[in-house]
Amino acid sequence: MTREVYGFGKVSLLRRASPLRPSSGLPPVVEVDEAENEGHVPIPELRQVVRARRLNVGVVKLVRRLGWPSRPMGSGRARWAQIRRSATLTGGELTRKVGRAVGFRTLGDVQAAARRSVDAGVWGFIEGGSGEERTLRANVAAFERWTLRPDVLQNVREVGLGTTLLGSAVSAPFFVAPTAYHREVHPGGERATAAGASALGVLGVYSTLSSDSLEAIAEASGTAPRWFQLYLQAEFSDSLALVRRAERAGYCALVVTVDTPVLGSRDRQGRSGFAVRRAPPVGNGRGARMPPRGSAWDGAGVKLAGGGEESWATIDRLRRSTRLPIVLKGVLTAATARRSVAHGARAVIVSNHGGRQLDLAPATLDALPEVVKAVGRRAEVYVDGGVRRGSDVAVALALGARGVGIGRPILWALAAGGRAGVERYLRLLGTELSNTLVLLGRSSPAALDRRLVAPAGTR
Ligand SMILES: Cc1cc2nc3c(=O)[nH]c(=O)nc-3n(C[C@H](O)[C@H](O)[C@H](O)COP(=O)(O)O)c2cc1C
Repeated sequence: MTREVYGFGKVSLLRRASPLRPSSGLPPVVEVDEAENEGHVPIPELRQVVRARRLNVGVVKLVRRLGWPSRPMGSGRARWAQIRRSATLTGGELTRKVGRAVGFRTLGDVQAAARRSVDAGVWGFIEGGSGEERTLRANVAAFERWTLRPDVLQNVREVGLGTTLLGSAVSAPFFVAPTAYHREVHPGGERATAAGASALGVLGVYSTLSSDSLEAIAEASGTAPRWFQLYLQAEFSDSLALVRRAERAGYCALVVTVDTPVLGSRDRQGRSGFAVRRAPPVGNGRGARMPPRGSAWDGAGVKLAGGGEESWATIDRLRRSTRLPIVLKGVLTAATARRSVAHGARAVIVSNHGGRQLDLAPATLDALPEVVKAVGRRAEVYVDGGVRRGSDVAVALALGARGVGIGRPILWALAAGGRAGVERYLRLLGTELSNTLVLLGRSSPAALDRRLVAPAGTR
């Protein structure tokens, strides 16, 4: 029996080439050395990656180090060359996938960790916006224009992040924003995302276009709250069928996305080739369709193939058809916010779809104050777009949001580390938000208000 130690950066894999296996054509056994597993790569994740990628690996199991030297094979290039020659599995591929499970250590590293974990097509899908991506950039840039004003010597000894969002008790004022096709990003799919979020009691909002079915996501969420995001379907009966399934599966609210009567023109996604040859599979079945794309303009008018009615009357109809509270996502003006409340929305999400729909729509942080003012206490107001850190969450809360949605960073964390990555990202975000609160002299999100922020460059 030969024994080799493979250093993979943060994790080391022990490959024990049993005499039976390689010569018999059976895949080798890979063992993860517990002592070397600095990043605490969860073994189920590793197995999942190995299975999903059909890597030529038989068994992945955790072992205790038994006194083998940890770096016996030289260093750098030479070691890699040796690994590549001797390993049945491709060292580069497994390294990448293991890196995916280990991922990142700080909030600032998660995007780069994700970039290393997915191919160019998927990256274009995650990162891309519409048109020139001016709104996409504006969302992030808007946070640079605010400063936080600490109120020192408040003797804050304890911070609680818990709150309620439409009556759902949650552990933090931030939530997982709905994003499509998680299995394209990581084989664990939305179930991994839901398991990561629910482990911490964080609210998850899941897309009509999820890779996993809404029932499977509900199961993975356990007792943690989840909301269902609805894209209105061409036939109202199909929308209603999805709503009924969400009700049965214990979803607590319906988030109706109203900024997507047609898909925005997404240059980067198109260039990267994502979904060009095939539309990614949708876990909710045939009754869950994408919003329409416009047909090409050829001097005559343009038709929206596949779309149905999307009007205030549709919202009324939906409201009459379900006991679930309705949240409208994609509200950017005071007028729309007032109208949303008048049509029975219990909450609105100030959102421009992460800059993926109407290019040149305002940055969400810029639109937030006017929506908060228009709605008053008649509905809850949430915001998403460009939120990357605990300090961003604090600014949004101080400007009047009750909840803050996180879009791309969740996909980054999922890509980089699966369920564990999502959990780690949310943990880091909550830790940083708590820290920010203490530095501001406040002990809960509810205690944040306008006096604690000021536009940059002013006093
Ligand atoms: C890859 C991707 C897919 C998305 N899919 C959906 C979706 O299916 N339904 C939806 O309402 N919003 C969707 N969104 C928008 C997000 O819910 C959210 O508004 C946006 O990502 C927030 O901006 P951020 O990515 O800067 O956090 C998607 C966003 C991204 C980046």
